[in-house]
Amino acid sequence: MSLNVVILAAGQGKRMNSRQPKVLHSLAGKPLLAHVIGTARALSPAKIVVVFGYGGETVRNAVAAPDIEFALQAEQKGTGHALQQALPHLTPAETTLVLYGDVPLIRADTLRGLLAAKEVRILTAMLDDPKGYGRIVRKNKKVCAIVEDKDANAAQKKIREINTGIMALPTARLARWLTKLKPQNAQREYYLTDIVPLALVDHVAVSGVPATDVWETLGVNSKVQLAQLERQVQQQTANQLLEQGVTLADPARVDVRGELVCGRDVSIDIGCIFEGKVVLADDVSVGAHCVLKNVDVQSGTRIEPYSHVVEATIGANCRIGPYARIRPGTKLADDVHIGNFVEIKASDIGVGSKASHLAYIGDSSVGRNVNVGAGAITCNYDGANKHRTVIEDDAFIGSDTQLVAPVTVHRGATVGAGATITRDVAAGELAISRAKQISIPGWKRPTKNMKK
Ligand code: UD1
Ligand code: CA
Repeated sequence: MSLNVVILAAGQGKRMNSRQPKVLHSLAGKPLLAHVIGTARALSPAKIVVVFGYGGETVRNAVAAPDIEFALQAEQKGTGHALQQALPHLTPAETTLVLYGDVPLIRADTLRGLLAAKEVRILTAMLDDPKGYGRIVRKNKKVCAIVEDKDANAAQKKIREINTGIMALPTARLARWLTKLKPQNAQREYYLTDIVPLALVDHVAVSGVPATDVWETLGVNSKVQLAQLERQVQQQTANQLLEQGVTLADPARVDVRGELVCGRDVSIDIGCIFEGKVVLADDVSVGAHCVLKNVDVQSGTRIEPYSHVVEATIGANCRIGPYARIRPGTKLADDVHIGNFVEIKASDIGVGSKASHLAYIGDSSVGRNVNVGAGAITCNYDGANKHRTVIEDDAFIGSDTQLVAPVTVHRGATVGAGATITRDVAAGELAISRAKQISIPGWKRPTKNMKK
């Protein structure tokens, strides 16, 4: 069946109490609207149209893609008015599916079940607390109207079956029905839901299809609901990981805000956050409270607690942290050890090299089996430009040294503790740069002045 998808996303979302348009609030690391667009794509429609309004270009820019068209609803006059703005963009596809930009968890399978060629099909849900929603009014089991909470009488308010807002409509009839809508209701809006009686007059069947899982129909109207849906998504992700064989110390205390791909026997301790795309190969373990973003970790590597790793590739059998900071553009080969309070940026570190404590390595190429001592730093920035440091295989960089870039420490060279290296160190050489120690016997330390 040929299909248009229209995503209504023009509303402000007043109850979010935020300057940001509601549909751009983030759920599991991406905007609510991006979730809905992803699901729409899974249906392979002829056309996806996003109706935007509040927030203007920010909404459009956040989700712009070649396969998406945008219709501006400059003034938010209701859901019916919103759909009307999308009409000029639609193809003559048989069915037009209406989705909400603030109902992010709806599944493609549920939507497939809703698609019908010549009917109106409305996705409904049974709620214990239907307050605030449009109620599905049935007569002899058949849907005859949808009444908004603000327009409902006492008896209608008791109806527990609600309109999720998601509906499939016959495209050919839409233009006529939408032009007939009148804003004669408590909110003075053009209600899309008022097409129900119009369809019935035209002898088009209207059916209410109850969703099997209520959670996927839930909308975000407040920060409370956003937080609830976030927990829902995280719980699902955690369950999927557990089913794949990943060990999670506590499935309620891991957050995946993107895609986490795990090999066999991966284990993840509490409080970890994964952003963007993170790949953990076999036998990788991630300690408590680590943050990993766009990282590829090879097998057997251990990331110890409180480490922060962003846009980096980490080889096999490395040991990182605790308290390590690995910044963008870092490439660690296999068997590398990066210890506590070591920061690495835009650097390649060769097989078996170590920086175990308190070091900064930036814009550097470090060879194999290099030892970088405690407190060693590369001075990569001269106040205007960044320069590279090269440390070749088997070099030994003593503690508390400064390598003032651009500079090269050649193969097997040794830099003595406390040195400030401003010129290249040749292979096999020892470079020291410190004043000779002087010793003064019987030294009297200054004493405190007594207050008079
Ligand atoms: C709507 C439905 C209600 C349903 C509820 C489900 C109508 C009249 N009411 O009510 O039956 O139970 O959703 O959550 O359809 N939007 C626009 N332009 C507008 C108005 C809304 O794009 O002028 C978009 C919003 O961005 C949002 C969606 O439509 O994505 C729903 O808007 P909202 O104001 O939340 O609808 P409700 O009044 O809650
Ligand atoms: Ca409203």
